[in-house]
Amino acid sequence: MNPLLDSLQPYPFEKLRALFKGVTPPAGLPHISFGIGEPKHPTPTLIRDAVVASLDGLASYPATLGSEALRVAIARWVTWRYALPPVDPATQVLPVAGSREALFALAQTVIDPARTAGGEPAIVLCPNPFYQIYEGAALLAGAQPYFANSDPARNFACDYAAIPADIWARTQLLYVCSPGNPTGAVLTLDDWRELFALSDRYGFVIASDECYSEIYFDEAQPPLGALEAAHKLGRGFERLVMLSSLSKRSNVPGMRSGFVAGDAAILKQFLLYRTYHGAALSTVYQTASIAAWSDETHVRENRAKYVQKFSTVTPMLAEVLDVRLPDAAFYLWANVERTGLADDEFARRLYADYNVTVLPGSYLARTAHDANPGRGFIRIALVADVDECTEGARRIVEFCRGLKG
Ligand SMILES: Cc1ncc(COP(=O)(O)O)c(C=O)c1O
Repeated sequence: MNPLLDSLQPYPFEKLRALFKGVTPPAGLPHISFGIGEPKHPTPTLIRDAVVASLDGLASYPATLGSEALRVAIARWVTWRYALPPVDPATQVLPVAGSREALFALAQTVIDPARTAGGEPAIVLCPNPFYQIYEGAALLAGAQPYFANSDPARNFACDYAAIPADIWARTQLLYVCSPGNPTGAVLTLDDWRELFALSDRYGFVIASDECYSEIYFDEAQPPLGALEAAHKLGRGFERLVMLSSLSKRSNVPGMRSGFVAGDAAILKQFLLYRTYHGAALSTVYQTASIAAWSDETHVRENRAKYVQKFSTVTPMLAEVLDVRLPDAAFYLWANVERTGLADDEFARRLYADYNVTVLPGSYLARTAHDANPGRGFIRIALVADVDECTEGARRIVEFCRGLKG
């Protein structure tokens, strides 16, 4: 067996199951889950209809490169969304079967485990807290993850300035998550300037995970994207790719549809890797994805639902926890320290007393540089409908008030 598999950590939801083992929540209260970040709004009719209308596609193998029509639809969307010069559908975009598999596969494509500095393994730089796939992708590519802790005092920005030069010299890939899971923080143009300068100096690839980019609050101010930042700073896409997804934007996590866009040289090798890896998107879903990327009405409607939930729930929770609106995405990243409970104990007792699930922040981070930056936080995924989210928030408030009494 591949010994690297033994280095993988249990997924946060496995840890949560262990935490809740033997706990019986009150039977009279229906369960409310703020735990898993799975979109729960209904799939728009235009996408359902497109799936049904293209079922004939089941009779053929899909091309790894995706259909030209899908690549054109994606390139148009990227060009429009990020105000770019026309993006080339032939070389600068690649459909993928959800951004998760692509985030993983990208590390297998980019990392050269034999190219080490001073006999030390290659490094994949990850934010901390972070989406767990980055770490597994790094480990299975034969690299070593290195964590840049997010700083609550700087809107959860990662402290890249604190990373020593010998670590940068070994870095081959850097994952960025913007808007971030779990913090919701969006990288600024200055953040990007710093990262591009580091990439130019040390030669690493930047993979920007932007799957929450379409969940935001101000219609006039969508989150800045990596390709947009590169263009604004007068550069091309060298050593830069972004990953996006329909899962959250269009409420189709089950369709497994996303894309990678950016540096054509990376995408060429990524396509080669994927031809063997075999993760092509079904032609049925390719056709439905064209419909989804070509329509913004359903995306605006989806966004409005999240805005309504955040504006109802955030002020309620701010009465009892340290929490505020994130820049974007659908999570509240709430500090629970003032309740006197550790984040995992908070989650366990909330579940035991009120049948509400939240994710302990420390499960989403690693201890690095003598700290676990998720410690003291909980992640609340506002994915259920507004009434359920409001009821969940009401129970959290009651729980916290009860602790103080
Ligand atoms: C930060 C982040 N990136 C990527 C993904 C993967 O999304 P998908 O594979 O559905 O595109 C998720 C899913 O929750 C996520 O939270």
